[in-house]
Amino acid sequence: METIQPIRRKRKLKKGVIYLGIAVVAAIILSIWGINYYKKINSYPYKLEKKGYNEQEITTITKKLKEKEIDQLLEMKYHKLYDDFIKEKYFIFKNLKAYVDYYTDESEQTLTHAVAMINVGANKDHYEDIKKTDTSKGDLILVNKYHQLDKDFVPEDIRDISLKYCYGENEITNKVYQKFISMYNDAKKEDLNLIITSAYRDYEFQNELWQQYAKSQGEEWADSVSARAGHSEHQTGLTLDIVTYKVNMNEFENTDEFKWLQKNAHKYGFILRYPKDKTDITGYDYEAWHYRYVGVKDATKIHDLGITFDEYYAYYIG
Ligand code: DAL
Ligand code: ZN
Repeated sequence: METIQPIRRKRKLKKGVIYLGIAVVAAIILSIWGINYYKKINSYPYKLEKKGYNEQEITTITKKLKEKEIDQLLEMKYHKLYDDFIKEKYFIFKNLKAYVDYYTDESEQTLTHAVAMINVGANKDHYEDIKKTDTSKGDLILVNKYHQLDKDFVPEDIRDISLKYCYGENEITNKVYQKFISMYNDAKKEDLNLIITSAYRDYEFQNELWQQYAKSQGEEWADSVSARAGHSEHQTGLTLDIVTYKVNMNEFENTDEFKWLQKNAHKYGFILRYPKDKTDITGYDYEAWHYRYVGVKDATKIHDLGITFDEYYAYYIG
């Protein structure tokens, strides 16, 4: 027989269980809220918003940048141009501040142009900040007014070029020679004649050439058409100056041979190294005759992208 006492005890127990249940549920809700809040204040969107970025900018930043880069961006003061530069095709994070500085100083230039100039380092004076070039890049070795070859750099596998293909005696690396011959033969099938005017040039020869130009027309002009010793692609053994019969170099751009090369040179691994309207990036006047071997895969990419080798190297290779 039950007494009153045990019934009360049972009810108390029931109440206790209910309170405990409520407390557990509350604790769970609170900790979920706490975890979510912690997550939120540690999220990139939250931190970026606090830094001043709007929703659209936050989307760009979180989509395009790596976590490490966003961390670095959060250390920097907000700038409204960052978002525009991050959207640029050849944007490189480490250059972000330099893009903004350059663009702001040279306000007539486009964002794309500012990116190209900074990536290549062409915002600096020529021959001012010279680095030894990384020769381990092989066919993709970069030689320009900021990247230099050693005086004694001589490419491997140099051989004579037959006078069938060349004005005067010249040498080139065997691989480039074979590629040229196949290009020559295919052009010939269309009644087009490709003639080499210059190929491998060693340091001393390049030096004499530049000195001659400088003596006859001044250093500034020499620099616009000729590389200083150690800075010529001709020293790599990967470069050919190509023209055709009966035209001088400056007339070559008006020939069918030039048009054919524009369409086909990349299929043999060659690129036009100093294109028209890219002087501020390459540092040289337009040279319709100067073809650099980089291999078929990269030449095709460079051709299709329509950028200079300097830009390509900065973004894809360097
Ligand atoms: N003419 C090119 C730039 C050279 O001298 O290598
Ligand atoms: Zn050349």
